[in-house]
Amino acid sequence: MRAVASRKGRLTAGAVGCLAAAALLAAEPADSRRAELTHLVRQDCGSCHGMTLKGGLGPALTRDALRGKPAESLIVTVLYGRPGTAMPPWRAFVSEAEAAWIVRQLQEGTLGER
Ligand code: HEC
Repeated sequence: MRAVASRKGRLTAGAVGCLAAAALLAAEPADSRRAELTHLVRQDCGSCHGMTLKGGLGPALTRDALRGKPAESLIVTVLYGRPGTAMPPWRAFVSEAEAAWIVRQLQEGTLGER
């Protein structure tokens, strides 16, 4: 986390327009926004994925469940949903960088597993 935050300064224009790069290079959301995103994941995502993200209507979003899945495709899923399934798009609520942050937290198991 700290390492990413310290890299923030030089990661700007290059990432724009490239989701894969944005996922890897995304700036950290501010502290207050991180708290909001954490709340969003636990409440809104949790309503389908389980309050501890171990699964419900939607599949588990735990570190184990997401291991080996490419972050880019998970970020696309968060932003655009999965048409034909219950997974809705979230791009009206979170930016690409924020979706990338959420996916990183999920893959590191820092949001739901307590
Ligand atoms: C209305 C129910 C619902 C809500 C709310 C919801 N999801 Fe989902 N989500 C699903 C379903 C169902 C799937 C499985 C789609 C499929 O069959 O491919 C899914 C799939 C996913 C996947 C892909 C998992 C994988 O293993 O490939 C991710 C990541 C994900 N959701 C993240 C989120 C996040 C983050 C939020 C909140 C911002 C959220 N979801 C909110 C229902 C939901």
